[in-house]
Amino acid sequence: MATIQWFPGHMSKARRKVQENLKFVDFVTVLVDARLPLSSQNPMLTKIIGDKPKLLILNKADLADSTSTKEWLAYFQSKGIHALAVNSKDQSTAQKITAAAKKLMAAKLAKQRERGLEKTIMRTMIIGIPNVGKSTLMNRLAGKKVGTVGNKPGVTKGEQWLRTHKDLAILDTPGILWPKFEDRTTALKLALTGAIKDSLLPLDDVTVFGINYFKTYYPDRLLARFKNLDLETEAPEMIMDLTQQLGFREDYDRFYELFIREVRKGKLGTYTLDRIGEEVDGNY
Ligand code: G4P
Repeated sequence: MATIQWFPGHMSKARRKVQENLKFVDFVTVLVDARLPLSSQNPMLTKIIGDKPKLLILNKADLADSTSTKEWLAYFQSKGIHALAVNSKDQSTAQKITAAAKKLMAAKLAKQRERGLEKTIMRTMIIGIPNVGKSTLMNRLAGKKVGTVGNKPGVTKGEQWLRTHKDLAILDTPGILWPKFEDRTTALKLALTGAIKDSLLPLDDVTVFGINYFKTYYPDRLLARFKNLDLETEAPEMIMDLTQQLGFREDYDRFYELFIREVRKGKLGTYTLDRIGEEVDGNY
């Protein structure tokens, strides 16, 4: 679990680091959490990457509601954004990403071929907020390390390229950007999935938010997990009942921890916390 406390100084350093490396890549691979396709974006993403081509990866798709994921992919496609959903822990992910990268870069690759350039290595860097799965994806994609790729001079000192596939090279250091903080609902969503530190928000608030969300959108999941549940009761009363039923007596913290842990691990089933129609900012 990442424990970065973001201050303006860290943000500008993070932004600068990404921007320094942008000139060495053909496209950026932006990771978001498939359960939060909007809320897990960096709020300044568009400003930071400018018009660099972008491959949007909805990671942790194994934990997300597959119907919502399909809707989100269609939404991004309608905006002209190349997006795909993956589970970074899955073996087939490298192949899927390479195929999507080829599609994204098709025009540029065709131009290079016209000019007689046989070598068509695509270079990318992975960026995203903490805990979204950047290291996991990088490990999944990692092949042998190579110092530099083609004739492009060195990237930031100490960084190297990973050649995962003969056509794809990835900067071995991902760009870590800060999450959104601007509104409480976004923060609660991030907290419920474990994208931000637990100490940033009270666990009871996160639990009440989670119970209400599942009550509204996934009531069957609550009923399947907790016996004798009355969906008509308000979240605080429901929490009191469940804490009792589980034999935790008055130990509500124990219930909060259990509920949040189970939601994060997908034990209540797959779910998506961002819904189409809620998109408000200019990022996508
Ligand atoms: P980061 O570099 O962006 O900070 O994220 P990192 O790869 O460390 O991943 C954060 C957590 O998310 C890890 O879990 C990792 O296993 C999990 N994860 C990454 N990609 C996927 C995915 O596609 N599906 C699922 N289900 N999980 C994913 P952790 O709890 O920190 O560790 P562990 O559970 O692997 O022990």
